Amino acid sequence: MPSPRTPLVAGNWKMHGLSSALSELAVIAEGVARGAAGRASCAICPPATLLAKAVEIAGPDLAIGGQDCAPRVFGAHTGDLSAEMLNDAGARYVIVGHSERRENHGETDALVLAKAEAAFRAGLTAILCVGETRDERDAGRAFDVVGRQVEHSVPPASTADNLVLAYEPVWAIGTGLVPTVDDVAAMHQFLRERLQTLLPDGGAGVRILYGGSVKPDNAAALLAINNVDGALVGGASLKAIDFLAIAASYR
Ligand code: PGA
Repeated sequence: MPSPRTPLVAGNWKMHGLSSALSELAVIAEGVARGAAGRASCAICPPATLLAKAVEIAGPDLAIGGQDCAPRVFGAHTGDLSAEMLNDAGARYVIVGHSERRENHGETDALVLAKAEAAFRAGLTAILCVGETRDERDAGRAFDVVGRQVEHSVPPASTADNLVLAYEPVWAIGTGLVPTVDDVAAMHQFLRERLQTLLPDGGAGVRILYGGSVKPDNAAALLAINNVDGALVGGASLKAIDFLAIAASYR
């Protein structure tokens, strides 16, 4: 069944991309502008160094996002960027709680919640990531772990406009492994129910993306699953042809 929500296909460039990568972004922007992405909204989250230039190149149809933000508005936080700064540079989205930040920077659910609230405060839409490790799935704890992450990191002020949830099993990120269609369907159904309980007004409208080794050849099958309202794409978003092919498979 096609999603009743406007799908979002978001690219996360992670720590990839010098100025030369902006030509790839221009091809993505041109493709989105001429309708190559079908009915999906599209966003690219480049490294912060490219953000302002990316906004100029992207035009009105391709949104640009940050990959992380600090909870505070400003202050003595060397190396951090506030959500207000991202907004000021033209970003419309910011990823929070990506597993690489949770793992490499020790980010807790409480910090992820504060970052999502910072995004709301600055007028950005937060793409909030949750997902279990391989060990947790093998131990039968995937629903527990992900349910707890949602409960503790989704702010009460979340709405269908300011929050996008991304289910990204950690073991599927950058590995070429993907869960079965049934496993994705079960997790997304579970997440929809949790969101509706936590957010009685907005939970039904919050988009739930799938992320983890989404490629042009598996996108159509993943994006056809009930309650999969788009994709968060890492590696394949670095190539315009792949990113556009993924977005176009959302019909
Ligand atoms: P991947 O990354 O598509 O390269 O697996 C997804 C992500 O980390 O958002």
